[in-house]
Amino acid sequence: MLKYIKSTGIDYGRLQEVVDLDALVYPPELRGTLESISERYKANMEMFIYAVDGDNKLAGYICFFPISHRLYNAILGSDTMFDDNIAPEDVLPYTQDDNNIFLISVVVNPRYAGQGVGTRLMQEMLSYLDAKQQRGCRINCVMAVTASKGGEKLLDSFGLYPLRKYDTRCTLVQAKLPLTMRP
Ligand SMILES: CC(C)(COP(=O)(O)OP(=O)(O)OC[C@H]1O[C@@H](n2cnc3c(N)ncnc32)[C@H](O)[C@@H]1OP(=O)(O)O)[C@@H](O)C(=O)NCCC(=O)NCCS
Repeated sequence: MLKYIKSTGIDYGRLQEVVDLDALVYPPELRGTLESISERYKANMEMFIYAVDGDNKLAGYICFFPISHRLYNAILGSDTMFDDNIAPEDVLPYTQDDNNIFLISVVVNPRYAGQGVGTRLMQEMLSYLDAKQQRGCRINCVMAVTASKGGEKLLDSFGLYPLRKYDTRCTLVQAKLPLTMRP
């Protein structure tokens, strides 16, 4: 039975688990480093929801955060694909204004694949964003870049639709809230 917990405070051990899990599932060009992930994390320590097993080991995670208008416009207006090249300055805390959310990664350890953990992580993100909206933080959109067929299917099932194709694997997708899972 997995537990779903929100990130708070600096925990380099947990961030190293994220790096190790990324190394299991992503090709090198789609991976961050402990340094790049930590630097972004310091800009918004709410960015992760972790799925952990009974021994408190990382089984999966989802990572999402509000981005600057500068980055939002660069994503929409250029062919540059943004991923680990997102600078900490473009990661924002939640504000009362329009928050444009970038979902940078959702990963499930292959040991737990196909058991609904990815779907649950998406639902946990949506509940978190809903709670933010209840507290007056307007969420404008959620955007992401697909990194695999499985990821494409997962994001599509929550209504994120393609905006731009970068290559055969990676497509920019976006949706306005409320996101709901298709029946
Ligand atoms: C994508 C990922 C998070 C899905 O996690 P998961 O826990 O296996 O997903 P779920 O069990 O909740 O299944 C979600 C849907 O994705 C589909 N799916 C999962 N893995 C898949 C795969 N490798 N190929 C095709 N579809 C896949 C499932 O069939 C399911 O659809 P269904 O409900 O219509 O059957 C996981 O495979 C992963 O970590 N992949 C590597 C990293 C990655 O590419 N992340 C996505 C970035 S956009």
